[in-house]
Amino acid sequence: MPETLEELDYTVPGPIPARPIVMSGNLTIWPGEVNGKSIAMLGNTGSGKSTSCRRFLEQMMEANVPFSVADIEDEYYGLKELGDVILAGPISHGDAEIDIQLTTEKQCYALATRAYLEKRNVVLMLGDLDDNVRKNFLSAYAMGLFAAGKDVQTRTPHLFVIEEAHEYVPQVGVSRTDACFVALTRCIRRGRKRGIAVMLVSQRPANIAKDLLTQCQIFFCHQVLYPTDKTTYATILDVENLDRRLDDFVPGEVFYFHGKELVQTIISLPKTKSPSITPGRYELPDPECFRPVAEREEIQAEVNNTPTENTDLRVLTVQDHETLLAERASLITQVEQLHRALALSLESDDALEVLERSLAKTYAPGTRTALQMAISALRAAS
Ligand SMILES: Nc1ncnc2c1ncn2[C@@H]1O[C@H](COP(=O)(O)OP(=O)(O)O)[C@@H](O)[C@H]1O
Ligand SMILES: [Mg+2]
Repeated sequence: MPETLEELDYTVPGPIPARPIVMSGNLTIWPGEVNGKSIAMLGNTGSGKSTSCRRFLEQMMEANVPFSVADIEDEYYGLKELGDVILAGPISHGDAEIDIQLTTEKQCYALATRAYLEKRNVVLMLGDLDDNVRKNFLSAYAMGLFAAGKDVQTRTPHLFVIEEAHEYVPQVGVSRTDACFVALTRCIRRGRKRGIAVMLVSQRPANIAKDLLTQCQIFFCHQVLYPTDKTTYATILDVENLDRRLDDFVPGEVFYFHGKELVQTIISLPKTKSPSITPGRYELPDPECFRPVAEREEIQAEVNNTPTENTDLRVLTVQDHETLLAERASLITQVEQLHRALALSLESDDALEVLERSLAKTYAPGTRTALQMAISALRAAS
């Protein structure tokens, strides 16, 4: 029986695994401590976040706590070497052949539900997708996970890792009613009772929505260099000479902070490699070695056929993704040509018109910004 109210509050669904998560010689975490809490994995690019995260997930696999990870850079498929991991996504990436093909948001939703209820590990391969498609897939997955934890009887721990989190839950630039923002926020704020722990991985701590960062209870702070990111760290960590100490950090070195516990350590290397770092030198095991093909086909059929009543889910598909990519490529070419025209000081009303027409047609954030900049430059020049 829990003895204090706080203990009661943190009573988590499912059995608590007896095996600890060993992050380094002086940092060991019990899976029960993590369960249902939000975690921030922060640090500059190259500071070791994805490597630390892979170490964490490997340890979770050994402790039998399931996870889903939204992979943007093909960094996690090597986890398959260690056990049952489903690679899912719209397209295979080189060596990483997908087990379950996801072409619609409904399928993402259905797979999330299944992963949660059956305690399966999933690597969602979302690299090389149009930003909007990726966001929609991610939000459908988050909705599916959250919905799966509705029934108290079947609640179970599940870790949901989101790489490049500042792109989905930023402090500025995205409406608080954006579907992806809402779906992820719900998992962070209300996932605890359902056993859902969200890990936000980000290279720009200062750019993550502040109200969500403050919901995190566990922090892995790798090196940051930007002053605004250091300022954000200072609100999390009570460390003397923080600036100077961070400057001396090597890759994989962190301040780990959880409640009153503050540990400075270098995370031990994971067993698996990141295939994206060592191209061509990494051999994956036979993908069938952990689960039979028949089961994969059965899951695919179920994912394809599961009806979802959730009307928030749109039906953006891989075809849309390809159209969007082609559109974007053509727009980028147009913008480049117009920039060249500008450089030659060609005054052109036509150019302005073409740009404005393109702006009205596109909704990829990067292209919109480029077009808006070109329009302002042209207006200023004329
Ligand atoms: N714990 C560690 N020990 C030693 N080297 C590490 C460690 N973590 C990361 N590195 C090195 O730093 C590089 C970048 O790590 P990575 O995890 O990709 O960074 P990030 O995800 O923050 O961009 C890796 O290729 C690896 O060589
Ligand atoms: Mg990374």
